[in-house]
Amino acid sequence: MKIFVINGPNLDMLGKREPEIYGSDTLESINGELAAYCASVGVEPEFFQSNSEGELIDFIHSAHGIADGIVLNAGAYTHYSIAIRDAIAAVELPCVEVHLSNVHKREEFRHKSVISAVCTGVICGFGKKSYKLAIDALIL
Ligand code: DQA
Repeated sequence: MKIFVINGPNLDMLGKREPEIYGSDTLESINGELAAYCASVGVEPEFFQSNSEGELIDFIHSAHGIADGIVLNAGAYTHYSIAIRDAIAAVELPCVEVHLSNVHKREEFRHKSVISAVCTGVICGFGKKSYKLAIDALIL
């Protein structure tokens, strides 16, 4: 089973960025731990991060016919990118929306997601464990 694990804008800054909210692990170390977990459950992950909306859309498109599912932390694009929403809908794959933080405990503008309606489900608030829970959601 192949799963694309996609991170959007500013998630390349994990470890340095607001550690009281997002934790002190870097994206590289989170992806490393996730890769080990994936190997233990027979999942082949493919990791991608971009700060650019167009690159994220291109990568989501590339999942079509290749991946069995998508784990997506679209960062702030979650809250307003109709283009990313449409890309998820276009590829017709199970997609889990992920957030490290519990967006519902935070500013009101983070309470709205324009992508949830085209995702299979949403996991937020469990820090780096959110990604592992999303893998479990796709495979169990
Ligand atoms: C985030 C939450 C978003 O509101 C924010 O813009 C991010 C990270 C999270 O993982 O908690 O960049 O998606």
